[in-house]
Amino acid sequence: MIKKCLFPAAGYGTRFLPATKSMPKEMMPVVNKPLIEYGVEEAIQAGMDGMCIVTGRGKHSIMDHFDMNYELENQIRGTNKEELLVDVRDIMDRANFTYIRQREMKGLGHAILTGRELVGDEAFAVVLADDLCVNQDKGVLAQMAELYKQFRCSIVAVQEVPEDETHKYGVISGEMIKDDIFRVDDMVEKPEPGKAPSNLAIIGRYILTPDIFDIIEKTNPGKGGEIQITDALLQQAKTGCVLAYKFKGHRFDCGSVEGYIEATNYCYENLYKKNSQKVELDKKSTHRS
Ligand code: UTP
Repeated sequence: MIKKCLFPAAGYGTRFLPATKSMPKEMMPVVNKPLIEYGVEEAIQAGMDGMCIVTGRGKHSIMDHFDMNYELENQIRGTNKEELLVDVRDIMDRANFTYIRQREMKGLGHAILTGRELVGDEAFAVVLADDLCVNQDKGVLAQMAELYKQFRCSIVAVQEVPEDETHKYGVISGEMIKDDIFRVDDMVEKPEPGKAPSNLAIIGRYILTPDIFDIIEKTNPGKGGEIQITDALLQQAKTGCVLAYKFKGHRFDCGSVEGYIEATNYCYENLYKKNSQKVELDKKSTHRS
């Protein structure tokens, strides 16, 4: 069973400036909930209870969000506004939060390596909170955790993207071994136009076996001068096994303005509105009985 989930959240979020000048990208709200809270809910749904967060300068609000705010809670006690904190209180009861700071932004691979002390020597999940994933049924991490039980190796979530967008992603190639599951034989970070090995792009959900830490330590800076998790995973694929999984559900790139707006519209219609209607109906039926 995978119990820990690592959230690399130290990046600057430059695509979303000026909003992210002093506010962490992970705290941007989609409807009325910060992005990172959606990620934590997805991890809890997958059976995980250890949330390991890699932070950096100016990211205090992430820690505050998953902590008590006595003044505020005292202020709204006994009012109907208390309801608005039910979800986050439930998260705090069900999960433990630990934090570590990445002092220099040396890339996603380096951020994951920074989390080593929090994760220890066990397989773990990674969520990039700016990739918001929703599925009506089982969340993407829950789908991947189930696959891990079967295959016991690192797994990356992939989705098909148009050819003219492959340069924004890590792109894999590999043989399909089962429906929607590929054994990775190549991986390229942000390939030049026309040079992508396929149209299967890696999105922000991973399950990693702990040997990845030693591999990252030996990985030289790659694309953009950053230590890339894609390079480390390719090494792992060459010596062992890495799977790519075409997940079920919707994914929104909330690190971009367009993806963020799409996510907001989708979540408002499909999650927030439906949930509010259900709460109203529940209230009416409790009133009647
Ligand atoms: P991104 O490249 O999408 O995030 O990294 P960014 O750098 O914050 O955003 P832009 O491109 O400047 O707009 C993917 C994830 O990895 C984390 C980021 O916080 C994000 O969740 N990350 C990236 C780190 O934690 N540390 C790093 O050094 C780099």
